[in-house]
Amino acid sequence: MVKKQLIAGNWKMNGSLAANQALLDAVRAGPGSPRCAVAVCVPAPYLAQASEMLSGSAISWGAQDVSAHDAGAYTGEVSAAMLKDFGVRYAIVGHSERRRDHGETDDLVAAKAKCALELGITPIVCVGETLAERDAGQTQAVVMRQLAAVIAANGPRVGDIVVAYEPVWAIGTGKTATPGQAQQVHAVLRAQLSVASDRAAQIAIVYGGSMNAGNAAELLAQPDIDGGLIGGASLSAPDFLKIIAAAL
Ligand code: PGA
Repeated sequence: MVKKQLIAGNWKMNGSLAANQALLDAVRAGPGSPRCAVAVCVPAPYLAQASEMLSGSAISWGAQDVSAHDAGAYTGEVSAAMLKDFGVRYAIVGHSERRRDHGETDDLVAAKAKCALELGITPIVCVGETLAERDAGQTQAVVMRQLAAVIAANGPRVGDIVVAYEPVWAIGTGKTATPGQAQQVHAVLRAQLSVASDRAAQIAIVYGGSMNAGNAAELLAQPDIDGGLIGGASLSAPDFLKIIAAAL
């Protein structure tokens, strides 16, 4: 099986019914039959709109989070089953903004990945070090610790996840990891996955952090970079389409 790259947009808390309509119209009209898999991860209230506008197209839609619980007294949370009702294919889990702003721990992220997998939703598991951690030489230890929790909770089912390496210092800052820096970490993650799953070579390990139309091709050409998780640049249809065109 030849692995397809994945280009996934992470809209974060951006959008409106009108703005999404314009953006999705343009994205849907753009790539024809893309070589890569394409997805947009939208704010939960817009999943119905994404489902309506993207059904039957080459573009999948996803959520930006999922609850670690099935149902019950969890005010504000959205379960994997609810996402499934809206045809969701992917759910980002453990984004650094959620780890930082909502105190999400490695174990919680692993539990969220498990809930998604159980419902047939592909978790996009984000890992990444802060600048202080990189400067202290802890990059490898940090990303391996974050991924280890997901492996421990899911065993060989990690063969069905997507991993997103997102160095925190590169997110929304315009500072991108060099292709060499990213490749090095991706190779470490691949090696770690290969201990847990005999499908490690097929697991998409995507890069995120200021990926844009200008730097995508070089990043996506690295042997262990299997796509991108795109924040800011996914809000511009021309930029997002250029990144899709750069994917292998
Ligand atoms: P960015 O965000 O592309 O705006 O840096 C990526 C992400 O946070 O997923």
